[in-house]
Parts: sequence; C-alpha cells; structure tokens
Amino acid sequence: MNSTDRPQQREYFASGMGFVLAAAGSAVGLGNMWRFSYMAAEGGGAAFVLLYLLMTFLIGVPVMAMEFAIGRRARSSPIGAVRRIGGRGWGLLGYLLVLTPVIILAYFSVITGWALHYAVDALGSFSTAPSERFAAISSGQPAIVYHLALMAVTIAIVMFGVRKGIERTALILMPILFIILIGLALWASQLPGAEQGYAFYLQPSFEALLSPTVIRQAASQAFLSLSVGMGVMITYASYLSQQESLVKNAMIVSLADFSVAFIAGLVVFPIIFALGISEEISNSTIGTLFISIPHAFQQMGELGQAVGLAFFLVLAVAGLTSSVSLLEVGVASIIDEFRFSRKTATLVAGIGAAIIGIFPAMSQDILGHMDKISGELLVIFGALGMALLGGWVMQDPQSELAEGASPRIRRLIPALLFLIRYPVPAFLLVFLALSLAEVF
Ligand code: PHE
Repeated sequence: MNSTDRPQQREYFASGMGFVLAAAGSAVGLGNMWRFSYMAAEGGGAAFVLLYLLMTFLIGVPVMAMEFAIGRRARSSPIGAVRRIGGRGWGLLGYLLVLTPVIILAYFSVITGWALHYAVDALGSFSTAPSERFAAISSGQPAIVYHLALMAVTIAIVMFGVRKGIERTALILMPILFIILIGLALWASQLPGAEQGYAFYLQPSFEALLSPTVIRQAASQAFLSLSVGMGVMITYASYLSQQESLVKNAMIVSLADFSVAFIAGLVVFPIIFALGISEEISNSTIGTLFISIPHAFQQMGELGQAVGLAFFLVLAVAGLTSSVSLLEVGVASIIDEFRFSRKTATLVAGIGAAIIGIFPAMSQDILGHMDKISGELLVIFGALGMALLGGWVMQDPQSELAEGASPRIRRLIPALLFLIRYPVPAFLLVFLALSLAEVF
C-alpha cells in the first residue's frame, strides 16, 4: 500500500456538528477558564479582553481555517501533512506539531487533576485553609494519582476512535458544559461583589492596551486557547468531509471558544470580589484561582459546595476534551507513520504523556516552565509555521478553503488569504521575537 491509498481508509467524523463540537471541545479548555482569567487579571482586565478578542478573530480564525485546510487536503496527521503540503524541507515543523501537544498534554492533565480533586472536595466540603489545601493537592502523590486517573480516561476515549470515542464524547459533554457555565454566570451576577468584579474585568486600562507584554500575552493566549499551531486542528480536519465549510467552522469554533472564556470571566471575577479577596488575584500566578475560588465557595456554605461542584466539574470536563484532542495528535501520528493499530498507538502515546506528566505533578516550578515554553513560545512557532505553509507554500489553498463553502463565505476567502500571507506572519514574527526575549 502506498501513501495515496490511505485517504480512503481514514475514519471520518459522522457529522459536521460532531466535528465542530470536537474542535470546540479541544479549544475550550483550562485555557479558557484558568489561564484566561489569570492572564486577564494580570493584563489589566478589559484591555486584555479586547486585545484577546482582536487576536482571536483577526489572527486566530485565519490560522485555524488554514490549519483545517492543510489537514483536510493532506488527510494526514501533522508529520505527514506538513511533508505532503510543503515537502521534506518542512519536516521539522511536523515534528514540532507533535511534540508541542505531548508537552501540553502532560501538564494540562496535571492541572485538570487539580480541578477534579476540588470537585471531589466539593462532595464533602472545601477546606478552611485554602492555601494549604492547594499546596497539598497540587504536587506530589495526590497530583500524580489524579493526573494518572485522567490520563486513563483520556486513553480510553481515544482508543474508541474518532466517531465512537472523540465525536461522541464531544456531543455529550460540550452542550452540558455550555449550559452549566451559563447557569454559573447567572448565579454569579447575583453576588454582592458582581458589580465590582465586572468593573475590574470590563473597564479598560489604556496603559495595558499599549503594553507589548500584554499584547503578546493576548496573542499567545488566543492561539493556545484556540488550539491552533499545535497540530490538533490538522489532525481533526484530516477526518473531515469535503462537504464542510472550513472557514465557517473556524468562525464557529472561535466564537464558541471566545464566548466560553468571556463567560468564565463573568463567573470568576464576581466570585473573587464577592469575598473581598481581590488582592489575591492582583498578583496572579498559576495557582491563584485554585486557591481563591475554593476559598470563596467554602465561605458560601452549603450553596457554595453545590455551585463549587458544578464549577470544578466544568473545568475538569473542559480539560478532558482538550486532553483527548492533544492525545489524538500523537496517536494519529503513530498510526500514520508506523501503521500501528489504534489500540497500540494510544497506549504508546498515552503512557508516554502520562510518564512525562509525573514531572509537572511533582513540581509546580516545572509545570510553570512547561506552560511558559509551550504556551507562549512553541505555540507561536506553530502558528507561524501554519501561516507560512498555508499562505505561501501550499498549492492553491483557495480551492481547499472554498470546498464545501457557501457563496457568502467564498467571498471572504481572498481577504482571509491576504491576512494569512502578510499581516499574520508579520505580527507573529514580532511576537516570536518578544517571546524569545522574555523566555530566555
Ligand atoms: N485550547 C485548550 C485550552 O484552551 C488548550 C489546548 C491547546 C488544547 C492545544 C489542545 C491543544 O485550554
């Protein structure tokens, strides 16, 4: 069998809806709640939100559409896709697009484990000593145990394959997640601190709007949150039918992703201000939300337990569907490159990521570094690679983008290609330089 025979035997998503929810399931993750809130808190609230909105639609949507186009045209996971579209010289990018999701999976699973652990706490009661509780569960044995449990669930889902595993999980979990999240936002709007929380969240500081650090963080947050630039969308789109509109789907997924992040902010900030613990958030770090939010719920008594359970379950579900997509990149790559069965490939990739994750589960310092390197640096590399490959190297990207698209959407394609060719790479190069300067 040569490689051109392969497209016929690839598994496909059963429906466009299934694809959109699976891609949204990847995009909507811890990034939308935990990372977005702490970035917004650091980056001057509304200024960050505004920049993040711009980055999502002006840069994120074109890059995602391009990434879909690359995946669907090549019908392969990233290593093969990049090679087919760009030739051997681009091979390194393919490997980067497999490496990054493995690193992200390893530490995301640890953080998802914290969320799950708090959901279990909510079944009893949240601790009255929140900082100590966080210290106890965030590293060491409990963190390892929860991380491994989540990896086991992720492995089980991916092993069932695209339709029965990934698609079905997304079809069930994503609607539930949206509904609970909206319920949480409505509940939060009644809290005594809601107004102050909204004010902090939604009033722009113009200083922050012009800060290069905030702009760069908004950009990398947008990419990380959309799951672009790391091979996930290539992989998912490789299972997508020709009848589906790539640009439309990229817009829907991005809108869903932005909305969840925005609504999560409407939940988080009122809670924090209701209890007057806003100082804790002002010098926000990775752990802040995992300390102040349970603290807030604990002080609200029984209602707090119930709402807290919903909150942390949403977080855990969001993390799980992202983990599924991250693992699928490695699994699909092993299947495509080595022709392993799905079962073996899932075990190899899953156990590999589970082992790597033990390190961030033991040390928050390691976790922080993994987040900085993959979440702020590698993701920009990946997005730049997508823009250059799709905009400049791929043959006739228009036709792939037009395939399955309505006439209205087709009219947007030239503008989208213009963005992908000129402004997007220019911006990304600047961000990359800024990130390199900051990380090293
Ligand atoms: N987009 C996810 C989030 O917002 C993170 C993620 C990145 C998931 C890359 C998959 C791939 O949490």
